[in-house]
Amino acid sequence: MGTTCSTPQEILVGVTGSIAAYKAIEIVSGLKKSGFAVTVALTPSALKFVTPLTFEILSGKEVYSEVFAEKTKVSHIEIAARASLFLVAPATANFIAKAAHGIADDPVTLLYLSSNCPVVIAPAMNERMFNHPAVQENLETLMRRGVIIVSPEEGRLACGSTGKGRLASVEKIISTVEKLLKKRSTLKGKTVLVTAGPTQEKIDEIRYISNYSSGKTGYALAAEAFKRGAQVELISGPTNLEPPPGVNVTYVKTALEMRKACLDIFFRADITIMAAAVADYRPVKKFDGKLKKSHNLITLELVENPDILKELSSKKKKTQLIVGFAAETSNLLENAQVKLQEKKVDLLVANLVGDGKGFGQDFNQVTLLFSDGRKHKLPLLPKEKVAEKIFDQIEKILSN
Ligand code: PMT
Repeated sequence: MGTTCSTPQEILVGVTGSIAAYKAIEIVSGLKKSGFAVTVALTPSALKFVTPLTFEILSGKEVYSEVFAEKTKVSHIEIAARASLFLVAPATANFIAKAAHGIADDPVTLLYLSSNCPVVIAPAMNERMFNHPAVQENLETLMRRGVIIVSPEEGRLACGSTGKGRLASVEKIISTVEKLLKKRSTLKGKTVLVTAGPTQEKIDEIRYISNYSSGKTGYALAAEAFKRGAQVELISGPTNLEPPPGVNVTYVKTALEMRKACLDIFFRADITIMAAAVADYRPVKKFDGKLKKSHNLITLELVENPDILKELSSKKKKTQLIVGFAAETSNLLENAQVKLQEKKVDLLVANLVGDGKGFGQDFNQVTLLFSDGRKHKLPLLPKEKVAEKIFDQIEKILSN
């Protein structure tokens, strides 16, 4: 279902005070050539490198370069409301810090806080600055909010040194924007909740019980939901994965933390997909410090964790759709069928695990079980493709 838009999609381009600001001229003209409408905002320090007139000519629109200018015909709120995407290129350490901490004292940070569209930033600065923990922490904060970072490249920097800090290529920045805006909108307006990864159940301060889930399946599902235009909330156990661009991530460790995070979001989720490998049990007692080796046998008493999927399913409204997973080492379909009924989900994704299957792999072979009794066995596919197939089925269920 495509949208035939008569008016071109509008991209807001924020330019901040980096020597790479001149590259924004090529970016704006490239976006115009790609058929987008462009409005440009400049920070005061950007004005030291480029002029509003250049961008007014290139964009054919008024440039927003003063917060309290009398002559600005439209407010920053209206400018932000029109945007389909907000690109800040180049993005200085100063802008990144202000954006991460909600400071809005120039046209670009003001627009950042006023926008509710996808945000893409392309950092550019000296390599030592880029690698500074303060800058890295600010970038992580923005990524957790779903901001997409077009990483700087290795190369010769304005200060004469070389390293990772050069603004990404104009082509890469424009193609990132195009990919995001050309994404499908079949799930536009929908909120999708995905859980991913393992949980860690503490034994003592240095040991825990967990499993081999890498999070790849859940992260692929979250990325696919975003590509289809959904607002995505990812609740992730500990993984080594970068958050999927554009997705809101809540990090948890234990099953109880995952349950709380799910309950906080579930009520507003149109679609919930429980791909996480939630520990069924946790130690009754968490030992303080490090459990000393007193004798050669230690007995751990375990207590059952709440079944989050079952609990959410019991709260599910008619308009909500829930997808569960079943990880089995044998009798896949029989066990999965039991879970489908027991957990009362709309769709169950069954997969064999163990012997190197499922957990941690880039590929998976799943069978989809539907609440109306249908089964659909998929071939061995990359987990991104599995995610695509699952959403194709979800969209079919939604369209019925
Ligand atoms: O992360 P990867 O490395 O990509 O591996 C993917 C995967 C193997 C983890 C994934 O495909 C998968 O099978 N996830 C579910 C693992 C699991 O916990 O399955 P289960 O059969 O034990 O649980 C059934 C369902 O109940 C699951 O949706 C699970 O999220 C949920 N559950 C389980 C226990 C619990 N206490 N609460 C739950 O909500």
